Parts: sequence; C-alpha cells; structure tokens
Amino acid sequence: ALTDNTIIVVLGASGDLAKKKTFPALFGLYKAGYLPRGVRIVGYARTKMDKDEYHKRQVSYIKIKDDDTKAQEQLKEFTDASTYVAGSYEDGAAFDELTKHLEEIEETYKGGQVNRVFYFALPPSVFIPVSKNLKEHCYAKDGDNRIIVEKPFGKDLQSCRELISSIRQYWHEDETYRIDHYLGKEMVKNLLVLRFANIALSSAWDKNSISNVQITFKEPFGTEGRGGYFDEFGIIRDILQNHLLQVLTIIAMERPVSFAAEDIRDEKVRVLRAISPIEKKDTLLGQYVGANGKPGYRDDDSVPPQSNCPTFAATTLYINNPRWEGVPFILKAGKALNEAKVEVRIQYKDVTQGIFKDISRDELVVRIQPKESIYLKLNMKTPGLQMRAFPTEMDLTYQRRFEATNIPEAYESLIRDVMRGDHSNFVREDELDHAWKIFTPILHWIEGKDGQRPTPVSYPYGSRGPKELEKFVADRGYKRTTAE
Ligand code: BG6
Repeated sequence: ALTDNTIIVVLGASGDLAKKKTFPALFGLYKAGYLPRGVRIVGYARTKMDKDEYHKRQVSYIKIKDDDTKAQEQLKEFTDASTYVAGSYEDGAAFDELTKHLEEIEETYKGGQVNRVFYFALPPSVFIPVSKNLKEHCYAKDGDNRIIVEKPFGKDLQSCRELISSIRQYWHEDETYRIDHYLGKEMVKNLLVLRFANIALSSAWDKNSISNVQITFKEPFGTEGRGGYFDEFGIIRDILQNHLLQVLTIIAMERPVSFAAEDIRDEKVRVLRAISPIEKKDTLLGQYVGANGKPGYRDDDSVPPQSNCPTFAATTLYINNPRWEGVPFILKAGKALNEAKVEVRIQYKDVTQGIFKDISRDELVVRIQPKESIYLKLNMKTPGLQMRAFPTEMDLTYQRRFEATNIPEAYESLIRDVMRGDHSNFVREDELDHAWKIFTPILHWIEGKDGQRPTPVSYPYGSRGPKELEKFVADRGYKRTTAE
C-alpha cells in the first residue's frame, strides 16, 4: 500500500468524469479515512482558474446533507488539501510547472517516501501525450508512481494494440490501473463469493443445468449531450465490450487458485480465449426514435442526421469449453429504454416432464443495480388441498437484508484498490486484447467495412427495446417464466 505522503493528480479536473465520479469518490474515501493520511489532491486541466474558483467548483461536485456538520468540516479539509494547476496536455514545459508544484507540496512532507498517483479523467485523444509527458516530466524518483486510465482503450483490436504499446513505452503494467468501473460494483464483486462459497449453486453451474444466461443493461435516458462521443463509439464499445463482458467472465470463469490479482485475471483470460468472435446472425441492433415527447437519437444536434450508430445491441456469445459448450450468453444493452436496470439472469433447464407439465424454469437473478438484490425463482406447491405448483421467489434484497450497510460507490472501491496496490479489479492488457478479438469483426461490419452498413431496427424512446428482441432471446433458448 502507498505510504502517507501521497499526491493524487487528477488530469482533466474540469471535465465530466472528474465532476461526476472522480472527485465525489475521492471525497467519499477521504471522509471514511481511506486515503493516505498526508494525501494532497492536485487538479490539472487546460482551463485557467484561481484557487477560489477551483474550490468552488470542487465543492459543487460533492453532495452532502445540509445538517451533516461533520461532513461539512471534512469537505473544508478536503478542499484545503486540494490545489490546481492549469496547463496544456501536449506541452512538456507545462508538465514541468506541474512538477514544480508537486515538489513544493513534497517539501511540506517531513521526509519519507513520496508517491504520485495520476488519474486520467481525459479524452482518449490525449492519452498518449499525457502518458509521455508524465513519465518524462513528473515521475517521482524516490517513490511509487501509478497511473489510472479508463476506456475507451482504442476502437478495435488494432487501435487498442497501438494505444497499449505506446503507453507501455512509458508505463509498466504494474504501474497501470485500467478502470472498468463495473468491476468496482458491490454486486459484481459479490459474484466471486456467490459462486465459489456456495456449493448449492456451484454444483449446478454448467451446461448440464443451465440453459442460457442473459446479462442486461438498461438506461432510461438517451445520449443527451454526449452524442458526439457516443456516435463515434456506439453501444457495443460503450457497454458490451467492456462492462458486460467483464461480468460474463466472472460468471463463467473457473475457480481461481487464490484471490490474488494474477490468479483471478488468468482465469478471466482463459474464458475470453475460449469465446469465438460474435457472428452477424447472433446480433440484433437498434436505434431509438422520438416518442412521448422525447427526441430520437438522430434528433440530437451532436449526432449526424443519417447516423446508423446502434444505441441498442443484443449479441450472443458462446464459450467453447467443457463447462459451457452450447450455452448462449446473451449480452444486451440499450439507451433510452423504459427503466434503469442492470442484471444477470441465469435460466436453468426444464425439469424432466412427467409428474409436472408446463412449470416455469428456475432462474437465478443477480440485480447489479438499482436496489441490489439476488433472487432465485423456484416452484412451490400452491397452498391448499390441490397438488399444484406455482413459481415464487427466494428473495435477498440488500436493502432489506443489510439495513445499516452503506454500499460503496464503484469508483471509491477502485481508487482504494489503487492505493492498496491491488490489481484484481483492473483490466489486464491481455484481457483487453481478447475482448477486442471477440467484438472487432461485428464492429467492423457495423461500420460498413464489409460493404453496406447494417441498418439498426428502430425502437421508441422509453420502450423495452426493439420488438424483435423477444424472438431473439426465445430463439436462443430463453423461455419466459410466468412469474415475471
Ligand atoms: C459508462 C458509459 O462507461 O457507463 C455510459 O460510457 C454509461 O454511457 C455508464 O451511462 C453507466 O454506468 P453506471 O455505473 O451508471 O451503470
């Protein structure tokens, strides 16, 4: 773990990610005493601002209750420990200024090792120059250095490899923490315990018992304001290739030898290597159109009016190993749908017919968000004199089960891991490589590299998605249960 004298530099301190995630998470950790004791937080971005203006902004990013005087005091301490330097991302001399500032802070530390953590809350276009400038101008000689980077890690296999090898010239894999924030979510972390600490589940965790697995991401809003970024990337790169695929690997992996980072990541890579590239026939693409007073995707000013970019996608992946052969893993994600929900739905096979006819399949559902919960759909005897079965649920809703527990934010959990030097919940280079291999062929097809671009089917803003979806999942073995 990092020693007390640690400076966290947030690059891109005036951007959206810093505002929504990085600063609130840093403050959350600070408040709970999880940052190194002498921590100082330095913002860096292009915008020129004085200290007061910067602190005012920082405070506006953090929500605390009016009557929480303790948190108010802590916020004051947090801003007192925060400073800001303005400068360009490309210009080495600007980074010398940053270093000067870091050295001034370091002089106030009373000896001992001094560490520098660099958080990239930056657009991908500056990842490479910033990696280079940090290494050449800001690298701590007598302490630990760490960089935290976040997707997009390229746009396909080749661009990802180029990006990785450029950054590798300056930063070692051990110093690099690649965030996929889904790995910091409480329910995603719980999957390892759920799977490997329960023989009741683990003994029926394979193709003999499981018919199909769906991993679903639904968001009730469109690209509002992010159309420019989104249109270049699309829903597959935004959600499926990273967040949902990470969840899939944890659902499908073999038991790691230990909880050590490399043991876990080795098993995840093994799963990824066993997945063939997704085929066109296993892909359903959608794009939302205006409905109920809400604008369609193409109505967004930052989106080209003829854009074919998918805002919804369902894809089917197959894992070619003895445990999972033939079991469809359906990943689906969409913007502008009817609700906010992320869940894993594991559907078991039918029981042998005979004494029972037409009873529902069992399902294990892990709701990642909102309202974290796990429930198991089972058949029970209808109370009464008749011998009839009906589907019901064993329900483990977190709010009910763990009243006083505060579920940490994903970014809090991950930044804390960086401080502790734990890589288990970060994406290793080879994971990325294999993830891109699975998705690159369909991404190229969607972008017209094989000729005609496919046209996504349309679905109304606020709906459950394209009407074709029901058949898509049914064709892959999913049977609707009666208790939904
Ligand atoms: C981000 C995507 O990675 O994840 C966004 O770029 C998406 O488009 C977000 O909204 C969802 O994160 P969460 O934590 O709200 O599920």
